Amino acid sequence: MFSAVDGIRPHLLAIKAYEPISPFEVVSERLGRSPETIVKLDGNENPFGTLPAVREALGKLRFPHIYPDPQSTLLRDALSRHTRVPAENLLAGAGSDELIDLLMRLMLEPGDRILVCPPTFGMYAFSASVNAAAVVEVHRGPGFALDLAGIERAVREHRPKIVFIASPNNPDGSLLPTETLEILLGMPVLVALDEAYIEFAPSGSSRLREVPARENLVVLRTFSKWAGLAGLRVGYGAFPSSLMPHLQKIKQPYNLSVAGTTAALVCLQGVDELETIGRKLVTERQRLHAGLQEISYLSPYPSQSNFILCRVVDRQAVELQAALARRGILVRYFDTPELRDHLRITVGRPEQTEILLAALSELE
Ligand SMILES: Cc1ncc(COP(=O)(O)O)c(C=O)c1O
Repeated sequence: MFSAVDGIRPHLLAIKAYEPISPFEVVSERLGRSPETIVKLDGNENPFGTLPAVREALGKLRFPHIYPDPQSTLLRDALSRHTRVPAENLLAGAGSDELIDLLMRLMLEPGDRILVCPPTFGMYAFSASVNAAAVVEVHRGPGFALDLAGIERAVREHRPKIVFIASPNNPDGSLLPTETLEILLGMPVLVALDEAYIEFAPSGSSRLREVPARENLVVLRTFSKWAGLAGLRVGYGAFPSSLMPHLQKIKQPYNLSVAGTTAALVCLQGVDELETIGRKLVTERQRLHAGLQEISYLSPYPSQSNFILCRVVDRQAVELQAALARRGILVRYFDTPELRDHLRITVGRPEQTEILLAALSELE
């Protein structure tokens, strides 16, 4: 008799599942607290939620029973006006996660390599393993700066097809210096620059607009963070013209839902409001950073994003995370050698900062 498991592709039997944060509803049940009372600072979501206009538009969807436009024409046109990148270079996805996977499906043969610079976002390595690709790691140095000499060496030796760099980087919040990107772009590799958090960095930090003029730069963006649509799954990317027809060909035709598309279009009409919220979060980040510095057992890193990474000095970070969770405060712990003594804290609303800082002082 055929046993289904014998048919599984061997490389997929071996991979480790991606470890996402615990689902909000599940944690809320486990803690016996209503979701509204949980101080959720573990997923880098927008603590101010979605714009009221988005909720309203979702309540009034006219054609949810009709398949969405496979080309996302209206959204790409609106994104083109927003970013000043031609729509021909823009592709929308169900979150930037989908675009990370799509790029790998387009470019990687089994056994091909990508290069990542840990600590960084885990989906690059995860999608690579699903795509039967190998991951070359060049670890970051002090202050989470890229090890350019190490990258140069690894590109020469291992010939990765894609280098994934997040700027600001998750989990530390550091930006990639302009000169460093120039050096990377001079290497024989496609550079996928992940700007998921760029709206929280100083204006002018994005490299999105340069994509059409470059042959080896991809820039990924998302509505999950600044625009508060994490649950609706909308991301986009700018890709070199040479890749666009092939990406269009291999993507799922209905990858973006009607709800996600509508929400993103409404966000693009409310950019001023979103920018105001973004500025509030940057101010709150500064306040949170100052507050965290006052906690004797924490050492926060500077961040250009909507989260702050802290080194935990005289206790176990995982225990601190658990102690906060018992108080209904969720922060992110990473069980990796480099980050085992760290916690990443998303910037919340001012009242959430107060609750967090009060709990942290109580735990002194
Ligand atoms: C650096 C980075 N890129 C991409 C993503 C994924 O974003 P999306 O929700 O658009 O899939 C995240 C989410 O945490 C992230 O931290």
